Amino acid sequence: MTTAAPATLTSHEIGVLARAVSRAPSVHNSQPWQLLIRGTEVDLLERRDVGLRRHDPFGRDRVLSCGAALTNLELAVRALGRDCHAGLKETGDVVATVTIGRPRATSVRAYTLYQAIGRRRSHRHRFFHNRVPADVRTAVVAAGETAGVHVVVPGHLDKLAELLGFATRVLSRDRAYQRELEMWTARTHAWDALGDGVPEDALSPEALPVAGLVRAGTPIPDDAVLADRLAAENLLIFCTDGDTRTDHLAAGAALQRAWLAAASKALVGSVITQPLHLTGFRARLVSELALLGVPQAIFRFGYPAVPSAPSPRLPLGELFPPSGRSR
Ligand SMILES: Cc1cc2nc3c(=O)[nH]c(=O)nc-3n(C[C@H](O)[C@H](O)[C@H](O)COP(=O)(O)O)c2cc1C
Repeated sequence: MTTAAPATLTSHEIGVLARAVSRAPSVHNSQPWQLLIRGTEVDLLERRDVGLRRHDPFGRDRVLSCGAALTNLELAVRALGRDCHAGLKETGDVVATVTIGRPRATSVRAYTLYQAIGRRRSHRHRFFHNRVPADVRTAVVAAGETAGVHVVVPGHLDKLAELLGFATRVLSRDRAYQRELEMWTARTHAWDALGDGVPEDALSPEALPVAGLVRAGTPIPDDAVLADRLAAENLLIFCTDGDTRTDHLAAGAALQRAWLAAASKALVGSVITQPLHLTGFRARLVSELALLGVPQAIFRFGYPAVPSAPSPRLPLGELFPPSGRSR
């Protein structure tokens, strides 16, 4: 006999889902998502009012962020012991609808990723050393591989350093870009945060210039030094077959699965998308690194040499549109 699926979610279950979504990484910690709960269907909405005109003019990072939130949402549903299916939408404010199904025991693998949600945070500092065992690296890559998303270990680090060095120089001198970034970084410290934005404590002046967010005063090593530092890290590039909204969602979801897999193995990491928004940068990355697919994000990971500071989150109530707490 199969157990019938309850027709609504309890407030405890809604709280579990909301906390998981809220902990997802997002561009400039803007948390550009909301949840609309309709019985046992949960719509994940993209908050297009979160505009980063300089950093993210086409909203690609915003959708990648929603993809990361979708991974957390699905893992939370499974951790509650329910089956679920996510349908991705190509247009409209709803980027995905998660249909919650029958009771079903979660797998150990999914529960391990779920448990890592609270531990994962951006680590923009240097790593302890680069000797992450091969089987652990393989597991992180495997967690991110999915239909339409390819996780690439980049070669040609000299070329990558050249490109990243170039992007760093351009971004650090772009005044309008820096003004926008300042609005999302200068105002927040972890202890007096408004609930969004990247706190000063979470940024690292001693990391690779491109490991965190490039600001006006970010030191820029020469390309050879940068290439050596890149070689001391574990880097992955998330590429997609296409460049549509569903590709961006899938890339964000895959990135988050890999990040959680890393966190579940005591690794830390951070994401780099800043340079990928410069005109022509992705095309050059594809040709110089012989990538198959469209690059969407770079992920660096390793063992922590120092702890990293947490970033704040908006109050959970802001996750729900005013009339949409449940229907
Ligand atoms: C799509 C996307 C793009 C991001 N781009 C960058 C980046 O270029 N540089 C950076 O330092 N962090 C980047 N981040 C990390 C966010 O700044 C970080 O997730 C956010 O501040 C919340 O902090 P947390 O990851 O510690 O929870 C990005 C995250 C996402 C999801």
